[in-house]
Amino acid sequence: VQTVREDRPVAEEAARLLRQRAEAGGSKLFLEGMTRDEALALATEARSPQSRPAGGPTRPDRGRAPASTAEPAATEPVELPASYEGLRSEALSCTRCRLAETRTQVVFSDGAADARLVVVGEAPGANEDATGLPFVGAAGRYLDLLLACVDLSRKESVYICNVLKCRPPGNRNPLPDEIEACSPFLTGQLELVAPKALLAVGTFAAQALTGIQRPLGKLRGEVHAYQGIPLVVTYHPAALLRNPGWVRSFWDDLQLLRTVMDER
Ligand code: URA
Repeated sequence: VQTVREDRPVAEEAARLLRQRAEAGGSKLFLEGMTRDEALALATEARSPQSRPAGGPTRPDRGRAPASTAEPAATEPVELPASYEGLRSEALSCTRCRLAETRTQVVFSDGAADARLVVVGEAPGANEDATGLPFVGAAGRYLDLLLACVDLSRKESVYICNVLKCRPPGNRNPLPDEIEACSPFLTGQLELVAPKALLAVGTFAAQALTGIQRPLGKLRGEVHAYQGIPLVVTYHPAALLRNPGWVRSFWDDLQLLRTVMDER
């Protein structure tokens, strides 16, 4: 694998993962239409000033319950539509919080609605806000590459969504009341997709799904449960792009996830 000089560590980490995968007996790699050059180009985008590591600062402990049991916003009782399409169309016209005023599009999900794995991220960024699809920027393409290393793809086996369905202006951190207002959509998605396993990427997703307000480093490395579904938490791909040394830990988390999924 060639490397792009200024981002050599990221490309080298990706190359190392691919070698490990080959050594572990993997003979196939699905890159979701990503060419080798596109995969390597991830490295050049890796340090764009827009990308903000979501595995970084932790919100203060708000004593919040997991998304599954969180109290709805007091002013607005929530009744979830029973169907997936109903939930999606309600989300697409949502005005439950201030983000409705600044978003371009609601970013509901991507991937198969009968997926075996649901990946939950933080919130849409600029690319996602423009396209209406989650994880389509540099971090998303890196996520696709890493998932491909364990034969998972959003075309076939993965459903991807975020804690927040609308972009916070300037990619700021989600605010507690925004997470609260949006949580019925995430709860509904997880209920309706009913995957075999969950992967939370980044602090916000990890805390929302575990209900534990601890730093990511203290949550990863074990299998949690969300409504009886095994849940693995790991670093956000944007954080990996900035901290290539964390890729090894991400890889370990992916192996844990793979083991959990193979058992079910
Ligand atoms: N980061 C996220 O957490 N989600 C996206 O959809 C894109 C970037």
